[in-house]
Amino acid sequence: MVLMQDLQQLRFYEQDLLRRHAELNVRLTAAQEKLLQSEKLASIGQLAAGVAHEINNPIGYVHSNLGSLQEYLHSLFALIDAYERALRSPDPRAMIPEIDQTRSRLDIDFISRDLPQLMTESREGIERVTRIVRDLKDFSRSERDESWKLVDLHAGLESTLNIIWNELKYNTTLEKHYGTLPLVECLPSELNQVYMNILINAGKAIGERGTIRVETGHDGDEVWVEIADSGPGMPAEVQQRIFDPFFTTKPVGKGTGLGLSISYGIVTKHHGRIDVDSRIGEGSRFRIVLPVRQPVPAG
Ligand SMILES: Nc1ncnc2c1ncn2[C@@H]1O[C@H](COP(=O)(O)OP(=O)(O)OP(=O)(O)O)[C@@H](O)[C@H]1O
Ligand SMILES: [Mg+2]
Repeated sequence: MVLMQDLQQLRFYEQDLLRRHAELNVRLTAAQEKLLQSEKLASIGQLAAGVAHEINNPIGYVHSNLGSLQEYLHSLFALIDAYERALRSPDPRAMIPEIDQTRSRLDIDFISRDLPQLMTESREGIERVTRIVRDLKDFSRSERDESWKLVDLHAGLESTLNIIWNELKYNTTLEKHYGTLPLVECLPSELNQVYMNILINAGKAIGERGTIRVETGHDGDEVWVEIADSGPGMPAEVQQRIFDPFFTTKPVGKGTGLGLSISYGIVTKHHGRIDVDSRIGEGSRFRIVLPVRQPVPAG
């Protein structure tokens, strides 16, 4: 009898435990999703600061050029005034010395040299801002409505490089060796996220000064994008764990250790793989290998 009661009690505990386990699982999944989202937001926040800087620069000089243009216009209108006065005077020829004087007072020769330059520079500035905004749009296209597309991987690589260039430019010599690639069936903005994670890691790894080589190639029904850095490389015990969620060698508060695990997930979803080759003192190489076409109807 006592045994029966114990057994019942035990069964009750067991069921309670199972229920709690299921509950915990649900909560854990939710927490993980939230974390992934916040990791993404954090890296977007970091990027936003860089992009703001990158946009501010051209905006700054276009603004100052507009200031000069305004002064130049003022001078040009003053000169037109002088010509008009001359034309309407009984003896226009007699006004020529005055016009010459006005020309040199207003520095018209300088203006006519400087104006085309100002215009070119301003146009370039505006084009740069336009390009950054376009890249940003490509980059951040919402994942939810992203569908599988046939794309030129170089376009995504270039816009990602443009976006994070602000983070890399201080210490990085960038070498690009692009091969000829067929269009690849993929989720382009998710792949941008992968390039970004690996490039940012590379930029951090090279420290004060170094090289990042971006290489692409095509081999049968696969393509690859390789990102190699001249950083310190990784010891075997680190290399074994780099794709684990939350594995980081960065100080607390610096890295979440999610960059590569997210990238691994994205590349796996593409039926591809990331090959890593790293030796202490010789840098690290991350090769993203992707099938040109998805094997199963992609969804
Ligand atoms: N190019 C590299 N050179 C040397 N070590 C690297 C390189 N890339 C990654 N690692 C190692 O792998 C670890 C995990 O990288 P991962 O991108 O997943 O996280 P993290 O960079 O530490 O943090 P997060 O990307 O979330 O900011 C890094 O902490 C680092 O030790
Ligand atoms: Mg990282």
